[in-house]
Amino acid sequence: MKHNELVQKANEEVQKQHNTVMSDDYRLHYHLMPPVGLINDPNGFIQWKGTYHLFYQWMPFKTGHGAKFWGHYTSPDLVNWTHEQIALTPSDWYDKNGCYSGSAISTKDELMLFYTGNVKDAEGNRETYQCLATSKDGLNFEKKGPVLELPEGYTAHFRDPKVWKKDDVYYMIIGAQSVDIKGHAALFQSSDLLNWELLGNIAGSTDENNMGYMWECPDLFELDGQDVLLFSPQGIDAQGMLYNNVYQCGYYIGKLDYESAKLSHGEFYELDRGFEFYAPQTTLDENGRRIVVGWMGVPDQNEDKHPTIAHKWIHCLTIPRVLHVRDGKLIQTPVVELEQMRGNEVSFGNVALVNELKELEGVSGEVLELKVEVEKLSGHFEMLIRDHARIVYNQTEGIFTLERHSFADGKTESRSCKLNELHSLRIYLDTSSIEIFVNDGEEVFTARIYPYKNCRKIAFGSKNEAVVSVTKWDLR
Ligand code: FRU
Repeated sequence: MKHNELVQKANEEVQKQHNTVMSDDYRLHYHLMPPVGLINDPNGFIQWKGTYHLFYQWMPFKTGHGAKFWGHYTSPDLVNWTHEQIALTPSDWYDKNGCYSGSAISTKDELMLFYTGNVKDAEGNRETYQCLATSKDGLNFEKKGPVLELPEGYTAHFRDPKVWKKDDVYYMIIGAQSVDIKGHAALFQSSDLLNWELLGNIAGSTDENNMGYMWECPDLFELDGQDVLLFSPQGIDAQGMLYNNVYQCGYYIGKLDYESAKLSHGEFYELDRGFEFYAPQTTLDENGRRIVVGWMGVPDQNEDKHPTIAHKWIHCLTIPRVLHVRDGKLIQTPVVELEQMRGNEVSFGNVALVNELKELEGVSGEVLELKVEVEKLSGHFEMLIRDHARIVYNQTEGIFTLERHSFADGKTESRSCKLNELHSLRIYLDTSSIEIFVNDGEEVFTARIYPYKNCRKIAFGSKNEAVVSVTKWDLR
């Protein structure tokens, strides 16, 4: 179908389902969502001429995956977002089964999008093309077609180009599967953004160290003097508290040798320890901050069980977070601009919790930010969130846990990580999401939650003794 027809069809679907979508109590207040249908990866995240652009993988016609569009949001401040016209539709031979994930880069006067053209034939055989689209106004994009075809040595699971510039050379990193079915990050270089030369796999899964059969959405950037490779590997088995989601998302920190195209790196760490987090993308903004946004979802992980499906939409993106390297790991903190959303501050200093669960007057709600400083702790601390989720810190074992009622079967399920000490929590709650920043972003837990409407209760407790200070803000 032609671009204009697809745009019209998608816009009609938005109109048609508007009331159904908007009548959902689980619609979020400050997270980016699809107007209808399914959202997955954040794409093309960039600040261009002062404005933040954040595109997203969008399936307008159903709450499942398929031939993706690029939806488009813009913002002056990462808080107030405008939903713009559709940026890309799967309208051409080289992207007819989806304008898959990719990134943005700006040149003097153009905004350029690099994305994967996904093509499938009648038998389901896949082809992949790395494509370019350009814009002079940041709103209307002109497709230029494929700039890179599948090199030898890889299967057609080869996608999600992330492009950057270093020392006057352009680089592109692509998520790839080698013909022996291992995940890799493949590096390319170019002087003109049109002709790309393969340098090699900078990192990948090996026989000795299984890191999965496919790596999606790689992102490579310099941060605090190190090189960071962020990627979403598929095919890693759970190991105790690690890798409990269906697919993983994490990073290597190290040094990239551009000559040999090798990343020497340390261990793989998960970027987020919650239930729903995948395919994040970063950008370097005009203030020099490395900001990350993730998809609050995981492919194939009970996607068909989210209750929002009854209202014809599914999934959302995370809040934007600033990244830093601290002690060999990435730490994440919400961008400071989000403080603009704060209102109705209520705070309590030195609340003693002795073998009890306590509610604090005015510390309740559905859409809020909580700051909890742990002043004193012996043994155990917990929080109950809207009778649906529970945060538990077991100090004796050094384990931090997020529990929730599963939206798939109602049973309690959990995600945990090792944590030597608990100093502080910063929690962002929205109508159907939670993002927990532990110890100033040392660990982050992101999840969708579906509590009963009107259940506003938040409680703090300890099975032994704890003293905490709590501040709550309602978020508009
Ligand atoms: C990750 C992903 C990407 C792909 C896109 C398709 O969630 O599978 O690899 O480009 O989603 O929507």
